[in-house]
Amino acid sequence: MANETIGWVEDLASYARVVYDWKALRRPGKGVDYLSAQYRDQVRRIVEALHPKRMKLRVAEVVEQTPSSKTLRMERVDGSFPPFRAGQYVNLYVTIDGVLTSRPYSISSLPGEQALDLTVRDRQGGFVAPHLISQIEAGAELESSGPAGSFYYEPLIDGKDLVFIAGGSGVTPIYSMLRSLLGSDNGFKLNLIYGSRTPNDVIFGKELKKLAQEHKNLKYKLVISDPPKGFRGAKGLLDAALLKKAVGKVAGKTFYVCGPNAMYDLVLPALAELGVPQHKIKRELYGPPDDVTKQPGWPKAIKRNRKFNVTIGGKTFKASAVEPLINSLERNGVVVPALCRSGECSACRTKLISGKVYMPPDIGVRSTDIDFGYIHACVAYPISDIKVKI
Ligand code: FES
Repeated sequence: MANETIGWVEDLASYARVVYDWKALRRPGKGVDYLSAQYRDQVRRIVEALHPKRMKLRVAEVVEQTPSSKTLRMERVDGSFPPFRAGQYVNLYVTIDGVLTSRPYSISSLPGEQALDLTVRDRQGGFVAPHLISQIEAGAELESSGPAGSFYYEPLIDGKDLVFIAGGSGVTPIYSMLRSLLGSDNGFKLNLIYGSRTPNDVIFGKELKKLAQEHKNLKYKLVISDPPKGFRGAKGLLDAALLKKAVGKVAGKTFYVCGPNAMYDLVLPALAELGVPQHKIKRELYGPPDDVTKQPGWPKAIKRNRKFNVTIGGKTFKASAVEPLINSLERNGVVVPALCRSGECSACRTKLISGKVYMPPDIGVRSTDIDFGYIHACVAYPISDIKVKI
């Protein structure tokens, strides 16, 4: 057995022992001293193994999925992969032209595999994806966060009748979820509706088709929005009419939606029109808005070309009003802790000392954060000169 596996088993055994003995905490003087340095160290090692803050990765293989997307298959260099739920993501750190930044990528491999697959799609105006697609080859070393995110199947709440709606590269966490569900239980009724611009852009196309052929409880519908001449499959957009036809009755079903922000603008109102209650829709976040000036409440007086002074730790630089603050901080050498880069996880919580920022109204900033003057730098846009502190 490899040393790291032995370590892992020992850690789990220690964890089991600690859990078994926990009642001792209520019997002063009788139980184990859990506050001793030895136990604190043991607990720290277990927590780090289960929830590593950082993982060192090596690219074992690069698999071309489509002309614009690749899967980076990674192995972990500094330990085993921690457990994760199918549908979660890791935040990948990269340095591009001297700028240390990060982006979250959904895991498309299965929990338990000793390889982590991240499928990356190049997109216009992107910063990290084009770098990963064009520069990263087998052997490259990268770093990521541990697995994170809340887009996964929750057995106690979600039921067994599940509908997955994916757009573009939004299919990557769903590919992992479907395989995990199909591998675990036969009682699921699964329905995947996958929208892609062209047939060439379809990620995991053959694999999904094969899964649907092998599993009678998986329905798979591919919909192409910009079909080539002579295309014979389903065409169109993921609107209410199409979803109604593909899904049928919505009662009792849980919906998982993942895709570009433009897809949410279409799919979420469509699901509301079909009568799907909010609590039956799970939506993966997909980064900051494509165009913040179109968000509700954006101050119309602030034009796209406006720049404001950002002051942090005695240094001041100019930042665009329409770019997330985290990007300009990183470009100016400020490392901001981050995970989701979509406003949800709070990792990038930043104190706004003075000035004003705009944050879209539907992001998950806690009211207590707002009350105490914290912003989420990944979805905050300066609309005056500001002073911040990390
Ligand atoms: S990185 Fe998650 S809220 Fe900003």
